[in-house]
Amino acid sequence: MTSAEAAPRLLVFDSGIGGLSVLHAIRRSLPSAAIDYVADDAGFPYGDWEEAALTERIVGLMDALIPRHTPDLVVIACNTASTLVLPALRSRFAVPFVGTVPAIKPAAERSHSGVVAVLATPGAMKRDYTRDLIAKFAGGCHVRLVGSSELARYAEAVMRGDPVSDEAIAAEIAPAFVEIDGRRTDTIVLACTHYPFLADRFAALAPWPVVFIDPAEAIARRVRGLLGLAAEPEDRPMRPGRAHLTSGGAWPAGLAGLLAAFGLAPG
Ligand code: DGL
Repeated sequence: MTSAEAAPRLLVFDSGIGGLSVLHAIRRSLPSAAIDYVADDAGFPYGDWEEAALTERIVGLMDALIPRHTPDLVVIACNTASTLVLPALRSRFAVPFVGTVPAIKPAAERSHSGVVAVLATPGAMKRDYTRDLIAKFAGGCHVRLVGSSELARYAEAVMRGDPVSDEAIAAEIAPAFVEIDGRRTDTIVLACTHYPFLADRFAALAPWPVVFIDPAEAIARRVRGLLGLAAEPEDRPMRPGRAHLTSGGAWPAGLAGLLAAFGLAPG
Protein backbone atom coordinates (compact mmCIF):
# COMPACT_ATOMS: atom_id res chain seq x y z
CA MET A 1 0.00 0.00 0.00
CA THR A 2 1.48 3.39 -0.94
CA SER A 3 1.44 6.25 1.53
CA ALA A 4 -1.09 8.07 -0.70
CA GLU A 5 -3.44 5.08 -0.38
CA ALA A 6 -2.92 4.96 3.38
CA ALA A 7 -3.67 8.64 3.93
CA PRO A 8 -4.37 10.70 0.83
CA ARG A 9 -3.50 14.38 1.01
CA LEU A 10 -6.26 16.53 -0.40
CA LEU A 11 -6.40 20.24 -1.13
CA VAL A 12 -10.00 21.48 -1.21
CA PHE A 13 -10.39 24.96 -2.67
CA ASP A 14 -13.26 27.45 -2.97
CA SER A 15 -13.74 31.19 -3.13
CA GLY A 16 -15.16 31.02 0.38
CA ILE A 17 -16.62 28.56 2.85
CA GLY A 18 -19.26 27.01 0.58
CA GLY A 19 -16.78 24.33 -0.50
CA LEU A 20 -17.19 22.90 2.99
CA SER A 21 -20.36 21.24 1.62
CA VAL A 22 -18.10 19.19 -0.67
CA LEU A 23 -15.50 18.66 2.04
CA HIS A 24 -18.25 17.30 4.30
CA ALA A 25 -19.14 14.59 1.78
CA ILE A 26 -15.47 13.68 1.27
CA ARG A 27 -14.91 13.57 5.04
CA ARG A 28 -17.81 11.16 5.52
CA SER A 29 -16.32 8.52 3.23
CA LEU A 30 -12.61 9.29 3.68
CA PRO A 31 -12.27 10.41 7.32
CA SER A 32 -8.59 9.53 7.38
CA ALA A 33 -7.68 11.86 4.47
CA ALA A 34 -5.29 14.68 5.33
CA ILE A 35 -7.19 17.76 4.20
CA ASP A 36 -6.16 21.36 3.69
CA TYR A 37 -9.12 23.62 2.94
CA VAL A 38 -8.35 26.95 1.29
CA ALA A 39 -10.92 29.74 1.05
CA ASP A 40 -9.96 32.57 -1.27
CA ASP A 41 -11.64 35.11 0.97
CA ALA A 42 -9.47 37.85 -0.55
CA GLY A 43 -11.16 37.16 -3.91
CA PHE A 44 -14.69 36.33 -2.66
CA PRO A 45 -17.19 36.37 -4.24
CA TYR A 46 -16.16 34.94 -7.62
CA GLY A 47 -19.62 35.31 -9.18
CA ASP A 48 -19.03 38.67 -10.85
CA TRP A 49 -15.31 38.30 -11.75
CA GLU A 50 -14.27 38.79 -15.37
CA GLU A 51 -13.20 35.39 -16.81
CA ALA A 52 -9.58 36.10 -17.79
CA ALA A 53 -8.84 37.78 -14.45
CA LEU A 54 -10.42 34.90 -12.49
CA THR A 55 -8.43 32.29 -14.42
CA GLU A 56 -5.21 34.21 -13.78
CA ARG A 57 -6.00 34.55 -10.09
CA ILE A 58 -6.75 30.86 -9.49
CA VAL A 59 -3.78 29.60 -11.53
CA GLY A 60 -1.57 32.03 -9.57
CA LEU A 61 -2.93 30.78 -6.24
CA MET A 62 -2.36 27.14 -7.25
CA ASP A 63 1.24 28.01 -8.21
CA ALA A 64 1.78 28.71 -4.52
CA LEU A 65 -0.66 26.25 -2.89
CA ILE A 66 0.35 23.05 -4.69
CA PRO A 67 4.07 23.16 -3.73
CA ARG A 68 3.10 24.27 -0.20
CA HIS A 69 0.58 21.49 0.51
CA THR A 70 1.84 18.77 -1.91
CA PRO A 71 -1.64 17.24 -2.39
CA ASP A 72 -2.29 13.89 -4.09
CA LEU A 73 -5.42 15.47 -5.56
CA VAL A 74 -7.00 18.94 -5.67
CA VAL A 75 -10.76 19.47 -5.41
CA ILE A 76 -12.00 22.72 -6.91
CA ALA A 77 -15.11 22.90 -4.73
CA CYS A 78 -16.55 25.82 -6.68
CA ASN A 79 -18.78 25.76 -9.76
CA THR A 80 -17.86 29.32 -10.72
CA ALA A 81 -14.19 28.34 -10.86
CA SER A 82 -14.55 24.78 -12.20
CA THR A 83 -16.68 25.79 -15.19
CA LEU A 84 -13.82 28.08 -16.22
CA VAL A 85 -10.34 27.11 -15.03
CA LEU A 86 -10.10 23.30 -15.07
CA PRO A 87 -8.45 23.12 -18.54
CA ALA A 88 -5.84 25.73 -17.53
CA LEU A 89 -5.11 23.93 -14.24
CA ARG A 90 -4.91 20.48 -15.83
CA SER A 91 -2.50 21.64 -18.49
CA ARG A 92 -0.22 23.37 -15.96
CA PHE A 93 -0.05 20.91 -13.05
CA ALA A 94 0.55 17.15 -12.94
CA VAL A 95 -1.65 16.61 -9.86
CA PRO A 96 -5.22 15.43 -10.66
CA PHE A 97 -8.06 17.94 -10.25
CA VAL A 98 -11.67 17.11 -9.46
CA GLY A 99 -14.07 19.92 -10.29
CA THR A 100 -17.60 20.78 -9.23
CA VAL A 101 -19.84 21.54 -12.18
CA PRO A 102 -23.62 22.04 -12.39
CA ALA A 103 -25.43 18.69 -11.93
CA ILE A 104 -27.59 19.19 -15.02
CA LYS A 105 -27.54 15.58 -16.24
CA PRO A 106 -28.93 14.04 -13.01
CA ALA A 107 -31.48 16.85 -12.76
CA ALA A 108 -32.75 16.26 -16.30
CA GLU A 109 -32.91 12.50 -15.65
CA ARG A 110 -34.84 13.01 -12.44
CA SER A 111 -37.33 15.65 -13.54
CA HIS A 112 -40.86 14.45 -14.24
CA SER A 113 -42.24 17.80 -15.40
CA GLY A 114 -39.29 18.49 -17.73
CA VAL A 115 -38.86 21.92 -16.13
CA VAL A 116 -35.53 22.27 -14.35
CA ALA A 117 -33.82 25.28 -12.81
CA VAL A 118 -30.11 25.84 -12.26
CA LEU A 119 -29.37 28.11 -9.32
CA ALA A 120 -25.84 29.46 -9.67
CA THR A 121 -23.66 32.54 -9.44
CA PRO A 122 -23.84 34.95 -12.39
CA GLY A 123 -20.42 33.65 -13.50
CA ALA A 124 -21.30 29.94 -13.51
CA MET A 125 -24.66 30.72 -15.13
CA LYS A 126 -23.17 32.42 -18.16
CA ARG A 127 -20.29 30.00 -18.84
CA ASP A 128 -20.11 28.16 -22.16
CA TYR A 129 -19.43 25.03 -20.08
CA THR A 130 -22.84 25.29 -18.40
CA ARG A 131 -24.62 25.98 -21.71
CA ASP A 132 -22.86 22.95 -23.24
CA LEU A 133 -24.02 20.70 -20.37
CA ILE A 134 -27.60 21.80 -21.01
CA ALA A 135 -27.33 21.20 -24.77
CA LYS A 136 -25.77 17.77 -24.19
CA PHE A 137 -27.82 16.40 -21.31
CA ALA A 138 -31.04 18.36 -20.99
CA GLY A 139 -32.21 18.72 -24.57
CA GLY A 140 -35.71 17.52 -23.71
CA CYS A 141 -36.14 19.89 -20.76
CA HIS A 142 -36.86 23.53 -20.28
CA VAL A 143 -33.87 24.72 -18.24
CA ARG A 144 -34.19 28.02 -16.40
CA LEU A 145 -30.77 29.49 -15.55
CA VAL A 146 -30.86 31.70 -12.47
CA GLY A 147 -27.73 33.65 -11.51
CA SER A 148 -27.70 35.29 -8.09
CA SER A 149 -25.09 37.82 -6.97
CA GLU A 150 -26.38 37.61 -3.40
CA LEU A 151 -26.94 33.99 -2.35
CA ALA A 152 -23.28 33.03 -1.77
CA ARG A 153 -22.94 36.03 0.56
CA TYR A 154 -26.19 35.10 2.32
CA ALA A 155 -24.92 31.53 2.79
CA GLU A 156 -21.70 32.79 4.36
CA ALA A 157 -23.70 35.02 6.70
CA VAL A 158 -25.96 32.14 7.76
CA MET A 159 -22.93 29.87 8.27
CA ARG A 160 -21.36 32.51 10.54
CA GLY A 161 -24.60 32.68 12.51
CA ASP A 162 -25.68 36.10 11.17
CA PRO A 163 -29.35 36.64 10.28
CA VAL A 164 -30.59 36.76 6.67
CA SER A 165 -34.28 37.49 6.16
CA ASP A 166 -36.69 35.08 4.51
CA GLU A 167 -37.70 37.89 2.12
CA ALA A 168 -34.14 38.35 0.92
CA ILE A 169 -33.65 34.62 0.22
CA ALA A 170 -37.13 34.18 -1.31
CA ALA A 171 -36.46 37.04 -3.76
CA GLU A 172 -33.30 35.30 -5.04
CA ILE A 173 -34.87 31.87 -5.57
CA ALA A 174 -38.21 33.10 -6.97
CA PRO A 175 -37.03 33.16 -10.65
CA ALA A 176 -36.24 29.42 -10.41
CA PHE A 177 -39.94 28.60 -9.97
CA VAL A 178 -41.62 28.75 -13.34
CA GLU A 179 -44.74 27.34 -14.89
CA ILE A 180 -44.74 26.61 -18.62
CA ASP A 181 -47.81 25.17 -20.34
CA GLY A 182 -49.08 23.86 -17.01
CA ARG A 183 -45.73 22.23 -16.13
CA ARG A 184 -43.85 23.55 -13.11
CA THR A 185 -40.22 23.46 -12.05
CA ASP A 186 -39.80 20.21 -10.12
CA THR A 187 -36.00 19.97 -9.86
CA ILE A 188 -33.45 22.64 -8.92
CA VAL A 189 -29.70 22.17 -9.31
CA LEU A 190 -27.69 23.72 -6.48
CA ALA A 191 -24.90 24.87 -8.82
CA CYS A 192 -22.92 26.75 -6.20
CA THR A 193 -21.27 24.91 -3.34
CA HIS A 194 -22.51 27.54 -0.90
CA TYR A 195 -26.17 26.77 -1.55
CA PRO A 196 -26.50 23.42 0.26
CA PHE A 197 -26.02 25.44 3.46
CA LEU A 198 -29.24 27.28 2.56
CA ALA A 199 -31.13 24.22 1.30
CA ASP A 200 -33.43 24.04 4.34
CA ARG A 201 -34.32 27.72 3.92
CA PHE A 202 -34.90 27.20 0.18
CA ALA A 203 -37.22 24.24 0.87
CA ALA A 204 -39.17 26.22 3.48
CA LEU A 205 -39.54 29.24 1.19
CA ALA A 206 -40.29 27.34 -2.04
CA PRO A 207 -43.72 28.21 -3.47
CA TRP A 208 -44.20 24.47 -4.17
CA PRO A 209 -42.16 21.35 -3.35
CA VAL A 210 -39.18 20.62 -5.58
CA VAL A 211 -36.14 18.33 -5.43
CA PHE A 212 -32.83 20.10 -4.84
CA ILE A 213 -29.80 18.40 -6.39
CA ASP A 214 -26.52 18.69 -4.47
CA PRO A 215 -23.61 16.96 -6.26
CA ALA A 216 -21.34 16.68 -3.19
CA GLU A 217 -21.71 12.89 -2.80
CA ALA A 218 -20.95 12.35 -6.48
CA ILE A 219 -17.81 14.47 -6.11
CA ALA A 220 -16.71 12.43 -3.11
CA ARG A 221 -17.18 9.24 -5.17
CA ARG A 222 -15.11 10.74 -8.00
CA VAL A 223 -12.33 11.61 -5.53
CA ARG A 224 -12.28 8.04 -4.20
CA GLY A 225 -12.36 6.66 -7.74
CA LEU A 226 -9.35 8.70 -8.85
CA LEU A 227 -7.42 7.73 -5.73
CA GLY A 228 -8.44 4.08 -6.12
CA LEU A 229 -9.92 4.00 -2.61
CA ALA A 230 -13.06 2.38 -1.23
CA ALA A 231 -15.23 4.24 1.27
CA GLU A 232 -13.78 3.91 4.77
CA PRO A 233 -15.83 2.73 7.75
CA GLU A 234 -17.81 5.68 9.09
CA ASP A 235 -16.51 5.18 12.64
CA ARG A 236 -12.88 5.69 11.60
CA PRO A 237 -11.50 8.73 13.46
CA MET A 238 -11.32 11.96 11.46
CA ARG A 239 -7.75 13.09 10.77
CA PRO A 240 -7.47 16.75 11.84
CA GLY A 241 -7.13 19.11 8.89
CA ARG A 242 -6.36 22.80 8.43
CA ALA A 243 -8.43 25.64 7.03
CA HIS A 244 -6.61 28.57 5.42
CA LEU A 245 -7.69 32.03 4.25
CA THR A 246 -5.87 33.64 1.32
CA SER A 247 -6.20 37.04 3.05
CA GLY A 248 -4.07 35.74 5.91
CA GLY A 249 -6.72 37.14 8.29
CA ALA A 250 -8.33 35.36 11.24
CA TRP A 251 -11.33 33.07 10.76
CA PRO A 252 -14.53 34.68 12.06
CA ALA A 253 -15.38 33.41 15.57
CA GLY A 254 -18.83 32.36 14.35
CA LEU A 255 -17.26 29.70 12.12
CA ALA A 256 -15.21 27.95 14.81
CA GLY A 257 -17.92 25.36 15.53
CA LEU A 258 -18.52 24.59 11.86
CA LEU A 259 -14.81 24.16 11.12
CA ALA A 260 -14.42 21.89 14.14
CA ALA A 261 -17.43 19.80 13.03
CA PHE A 262 -15.65 19.20 9.72
CA GLY A 263 -12.40 18.30 11.48
CA LEU A 264 -10.62 21.54 10.58
CA ALA A 265 -8.55 23.90 12.70
CA PRO A 266 -7.63 27.39 11.51
CA GLY A 267 -4.29 27.03 9.67
N1 DGL B 1 -18.98 28.46 -4.06
C1 DGL B 1 -18.82 29.03 -5.35
C2 DGL B 1 -19.49 28.15 -6.43
O1 DGL B 1 -19.68 26.97 -6.25
C3 DGL B 1 -19.11 30.47 -5.63
C4 DGL B 1 -19.33 31.51 -4.61
C5 DGL B 1 -18.86 32.86 -5.09
O2 DGL B 1 -17.66 33.08 -5.01
O3 DGL B 1 -19.68 33.66 -5.53
O4 DGL B 1 -19.80 28.61 -7.49
